[in-house]
Amino acid sequence: MLTSLRYLAGTAGPSGFGSRTTAEEATAAGRDLAHITAIITGATSGIGAETARVLASRGARLVLPARSLKAAEEARARVRADCPGADVTVLPLDLSSLASVRRFVKRFLHLGLPLNLLVNNAGKYADRFAVSEDGVEMTFATNYLGHFLLTRLLLDKMAETARDTGVEGRIVNVSSTIHSWFPADDDALAYLDRVTRRKIQYDPTKAYALSKLANVLHTRALADRLKEMGANVTANCVHPGIVRTRLIRDRDGLITNTVFFLASKLLKTIPQAAATTCYVAVHPAVAGVSGKYFADCNEASPSRLGASSEEASRLWTFSENITAEKVQKTTSSVHVVSTGLFGLQAQSSIVPNRAMALAA
Ligand SMILES: NC(=O)c1ccc[n+]([C@@H]2O[C@H](COP(=O)([O-])OP(=O)(O)OC[C@H]3O[C@@H](n4cnc5c(N)ncnc54)[C@H](OP(=O)(O)O)[C@@H]3O)[C@@H](O)[C@H]2O)c1
Repeated sequence: MLTSLRYLAGTAGPSGFGSRTTAEEATAAGRDLAHITAIITGATSGIGAETARVLASRGARLVLPARSLKAAEEARARVRADCPGADVTVLPLDLSSLASVRRFVKRFLHLGLPLNLLVNNAGKYADRFAVSEDGVEMTFATNYLGHFLLTRLLLDKMAETARDTGVEGRIVNVSSTIHSWFPADDDALAYLDRVTRRKIQYDPTKAYALSKLANVLHTRALADRLKEMGANVTANCVHPGIVRTRLIRDRDGLITNTVFFLASKLLKTIPQAAATTCYVAVHPAVAGVSGKYFADCNEASPSRLGASSEEASRLWTFSENITAEKVQKTTSSVHVVSTGLFGLQAQSSIVPNRAMALAA
């Protein structure tokens, strides 16, 4: 109750910021980000676009991956219109495809740039059931699994940059308060298995909640991993707040318009929704803080499942297995084969059939 009132009033929390803080305000603490190179996923629209604009306006060099290069070029043009001279590189990346993630990382590493900041922001809410080319339910594949692999493949670069520059690296996972809608008594991985194999009916909201819970659990396990590595890199996750973006584009129409109109007092603007990401990404007060969940630019509590170390390490092991790659020689060509939970079998795009199939 108190939290809701504080949200509505925009009252500042211990950080000095609250629900009405904008990304510009959250980054105004005199920080020149000219020494920062950041990858921001999902910057072609919504919260990611505003995050990119504000970080570029503070001088950060940006790498913007997107599944449509045309959309990425347009995003770059918008950033440059606002911040002339901004250093923005665009590269192709479809997060729903593990092969695309690998190609992106190869291209990025080839550029020879440092990497201080990784903002895993891209996301989708899918009204209709689909399976990724790797054979995983599409919302989970896009919102979580692609980001898991992306982060894993970039960890060494981030640790190396932090070591060479003495500047703390940061990873920000954009989750949602909706992660708490995944029932505490349900088994996340078993649910993913059932929904992927179409053993149960697809529920878009539950699939979205599961993917956002995975973002929270990923953060927790990642923070532990970074500590074990001795890397000067932190990992935190955020709930940006509720804001009308293209996220629910599948549901555009009269009913959605009416709901948003009625709820307009509860919604954030896009500059407000980008504030928590930007705060956690660059604010000096967050230095050394890792494995935490933030909302309205303040530390908050995730759901009970989201706070579970056991669930976090279970998901981490599952994700490592499912994204693992080993090279297998066949008579005609070399196939990249992944194996994971549910006996997942994958062949790379060298073989044009559907890549990863769940064993029945
Ligand atoms: N809006 C809210 O109320 C709200 C609340 C809580 C959390 N969030 C989270 O905030 C993040 C940003 O969402 P948003 O509201 O700003 O939505 P948005 O405007 O729809 O932006 C989503 C971004 O993700 C990208 N994306 C989607 N699928 C992708 C894929 N397969 N590969 C690469 N990029 C992909 C989109 O690129 P395209 O241009 O290619 O579509 C777009 O740039 C998401 O993680 C979302 O879950 C949003």
